[in-house]
Amino acid sequence: MNIGLIYFSATNNTETIGKIIKHEIEAIESSVKVFLINITPYSTRNNHLNLAKCEKFIFGFPVYGWRVPNVVREWLKTLEGKGRECAMFFTYGGINSGVVHYDTYKILNENDFKVLSSAEFIASHTYNLGGWNILENRPNEEDFEIARQYSRSILKQFQESNPILFQIKPHEYSDKTLERIENNPKRMVKIPRWTAECDVCGVCNNLCPTNAIDAENQIIKDEKCIRCLSCVFNCPESVLKVDDLTRLYKMALKVEHLTEKEINNRKSKIF
Ligand SMILES: Cc1cc2nc3c(=O)[nH]c(=O)nc-3n(C[C@H](O)[C@H](O)[C@H](O)COP(=O)(O)O)c2cc1C
Ligand code: SF4
Ligand code: SF4
Repeated sequence: MNIGLIYFSATNNTETIGKIIKHEIEAIESSVKVFLINITPYSTRNNHLNLAKCEKFIFGFPVYGWRVPNVVREWLKTLEGKGRECAMFFTYGGINSGVVHYDTYKILNENDFKVLSSAEFIASHTYNLGGWNILENRPNEEDFEIARQYSRSILKQFQESNPILFQIKPHEYSDKTLERIENNPKRMVKIPRWTAECDVCGVCNNLCPTNAIDAENQIIKDEKCIRCLSCVFNCPESVLKVDDLTRLYKMALKVEHLTEKEINNRKSKIF
């Protein structure tokens, strides 16, 4: 069996969980191959991906404003499931995973995928790069163990001839509310900036999910930038920085009625 594990990961949390799932499935069943397919860089979503060799899929994405990043949602809508089975998993920064399970399930279902299961994993928040300091060591061994458990359950479902389909209730939020939540980072986080000259190695250009960055001229296009901070995280010279975001952290806790203790006690879950 060939499984395509398709993931988006700007700062490696989702990729880390994806690699554990691949490793566990291949360790249990040597005849199964899991192909890691990274759709984070802009070019990967704009070149044709040959998914014909994959009989099943696992989709892994981060939560950006309660759903998966909009660039991923739009790309998913271009896929043809052709009745193939899939599993989903998400990583999120302990604030709120929102409507991510239902929203992604709905897109996949509408594109003729048979969704069998879902899981969510706690991970360090991207905005720790801007001065937040929550869940800095997550995912940890406890989360990895849940990822291994989830891998075993995915494999079992993929091997069944008539697996039970994933069941989830629709959420009650309007598109307008979800768009507002999604746009919060864009409104409140300034684009990253250069703090020094650099050698123009091109890493940030190559990895940027939206083609927003021009390292040679030290320009980031505000309207294209989704504040994923891949460029800040991956810059080998650490010259790209984002402004201090601690005010946003305090606001997020207030709006979500959360305490730091509650965030730190969050557990990864299989649904
Ligand atoms: C633009 C943006 C929006 C985010 N929105 C949420 C959110 O709504 N809830 C949450 O708990 N974490 C949120 N996060 C944190 C990420 O979900 C989390 O850090 C995730 O593990 C990042 O995955 P990656 O390292 O694979 O890119 C957001 C991060 C970014 C960059
Ligand atoms: S990754 Fe860093 S060093 Fe490389 S081009 Fe971008 S800003 Fe310059
Ligand atoms: S320029 Fe914006 S979209 Fe591109 S990697 Fe940096 S933060 Fe992400």
